Amino acid sequence: MTTALITGATAGIGGAFAHRLAADGHNLVLVARDEKRLREQATELHDRHGVEVEVMRADLASDKGIEAVAARLEERTHPVDLLVNNAGFGNKGAFLDVPVEDELRMLKVHCEAVLRLTHRAVTGMRDRGRGGVINVASVAAFVPRGTYGASKSWVVQFTQGAAHELSGSGVRLMALCPGFVRTEFHERAGIRTGNIPDWLWLDADRVVEAAMRDLERGKTLSVPDPRYKTLTGLAKLAPRNMLGGISTRAGRKFGPSR
Ligand SMILES: NC(=O)c1ccc[n+]([C@@H]2O[C@H](COP(=O)([O-])OP(=O)(O)OC[C@H]3O[C@@H](n4cnc5c(N)ncnc54)[C@H](OP(=O)(O)O)[C@@H]3O)[C@@H](O)[C@H]2O)c1
Repeated sequence: MTTALITGATAGIGGAFAHRLAADGHNLVLVARDEKRLREQATELHDRHGVEVEVMRADLASDKGIEAVAARLEERTHPVDLLVNNAGFGNKGAFLDVPVEDELRMLKVHCEAVLRLTHRAVTGMRDRGRGGVINVASVAAFVPRGTYGASKSWVVQFTQGAAHELSGSGVRLMALCPGFVRTEFHERAGIRTGNIPDWLWLDADRVVEAAMRDLERGKTLSVPDPRYKTLTGLAKLAPRNMLGGISTRAGRKFGPSR
């Protein structure tokens, strides 16, 4: 039986990964900050699917939290075979409206934690000759818009670069780039969603289904859903200035509620 460690496992996309991987018979290590929620989820998954579920309360915006999870990833007696770096959040407001401390916290969770956890997990995976890492980015990685998009762009570049270096080692790395997914993300950030057309919304379970299929196929980049494959394809062709204008207007339209 294999073990998967998921960060940000208690809600949204991370929660969907936890359900899918437990249903497939993987033991789990669930990471988030809310311990009560973690324990309730662990009990539910254990009772429903009969898998072993560990919980780790850790704040990935802190060195202590990152180090605790990294130490678990290094354990050789109960190795982690699949790491899902999923924890993340949005900040409310345009660049100059967001306190720089909040932007730095985002970089810590989206970039530093992903770098350090991937590094520690992959070291053991390479020695064992098998393993996988899914780093959850976003289609925002492909448009010039703020710290969020920039951090997710880093996730894509970093993951694909490392995947290339590790090809042939038995270790797979993949960046997952969903579009709008119905989760707690927007509400937590105070982002209005009423104006987002229905056809742009994705379901977290289907995103995870597509991600697992793409990882199995050896892809290093997964854009779940044909709608977003088309939109990201067009974004790659469009001039950067034009794209920046469109994404800024869209940001104002779908932006944070005040
Ligand atoms: N929803 C979308 O439209 C969308 C689109 C593209 C990409 N994404 C990306 O998908 C990932 C998951 O987002 P989601 O939509 O599923 O969000 P969500 O429903 O708000 O869930 C976020 C999860 O991350 C955990 N988390 C947040 N900050 C954390 C921290 N500092 N340390 C540890 N855990 C933390 C939360 O639990 P605690 O609060 O208990 O810690 C929760 O389990 C993020 O990386 C996001 O950027 C989302």
